[in-house]
Amino acid sequence: MDYSFTKFLNLISAVFLIFSLAACGNGQNGNVTDDPRSTHSVDGKKTYKDLVVGYSQIGAESEWRTGNTASIKEAAEKLGVELIFDDAQQKQENQIKAIRSFIAQQVDVIGVSPLTESGWDSVFQEAKDAGIPIILVDRRAAVPEDLYTSYLGSDFYEEGRRAARVMVDLLDGKGNIVELVGTVGSAPAIDRYAGFREVIKDYPDMKIIASATGDFTRAKGKEVMEAFLQLHGDEIDALYAHNDDMAIGAIKAIEEYGLRPGVDIKIVSIDAIRDAFQAMIDGKLNATVECNPLLGPQFLELALKVVNGEGAPKWIPSEEHIYFPENAREILPTRKY
Ligand code: AHR
Repeated sequence: MDYSFTKFLNLISAVFLIFSLAACGNGQNGNVTDDPRSTHSVDGKKTYKDLVVGYSQIGAESEWRTGNTASIKEAAEKLGVELIFDDAQQKQENQIKAIRSFIAQQVDVIGVSPLTESGWDSVFQEAKDAGIPIILVDRRAAVPEDLYTSYLGSDFYEEGRRAARVMVDLLDGKGNIVELVGTVGSAPAIDRYAGFREVIKDYPDMKIIASATGDFTRAKGKEVMEAFLQLHGDEIDALYAHNDDMAIGAIKAIEEYGLRPGVDIKIVSIDAIRDAFQAMIDGKLNATVECNPLLGPQFLELALKVVNGEGAPKWIPSEEHIYFPENAREILPTRKY
């Protein structure tokens, strides 16, 4: 081997050694280690690939929820975020258990869609004590503001008001309404109930003659609508359903009873799922008020900002619309959930 080439090789080795030692030194300082998750970007901030997120989901009660879960999982996969996902099967105790396990695993951020508004103070306090930020996704919790970092989701109260305004137009300010309420004690059920009434109260000839929970599911929506029809039958002019799934269940009940949904009984519901567009195309649903479940990318963007100490607004509201049968056929192919 010629002498100058040997010198060149020695030089390369020396440079390599210096860089290796520097890297080891950094490792001891905690900046760069063998764990790829703790690799920081040049400015010392975390990147998506460093992020470990625990997410407590309610369950799979509706098409909306399925779309919401898919959005969160897809965004995590696309961005390279490590997502620890838990499905609570409609039980708050399971959500609390999941949050405690995320705390024990020392995740960077916890995302939670709270089943009901109340009952979160202690577990959120535990997360706060462990220094883990909580981001509320989709539903609010009735806790002091210092127990969560941010709420990302809809204005359910406004959704209720929007549904009521559409109902006023459909009934020309006069008629008997039955209501399918969402899960008892949940933020959307509480706010959609109240928002609807805020508008209806100015129309004394519009009456809510029956109201009961259908738990946001198709099966329960059908069952409760059957009971409404048994009790009030032909007196019913309209149905207000807190979500499309319950409305779709109710549509079946109305047809089986021998009335025409969307014609004999006007129907307004909330979510804007694909099946609601199909029901509007079929002339069985009169309007759907959008509630956007595609929160995954926004949630993870927010989570990253929060762990990097960047400010987060207390509420990031979703942008939503109202859809009618007139353009349902044209819009359906563009719907993602
Ligand atoms: O919290 C959002 C609500 O929960 C949706 O409107 C409903 O379909 C879902 O189950």
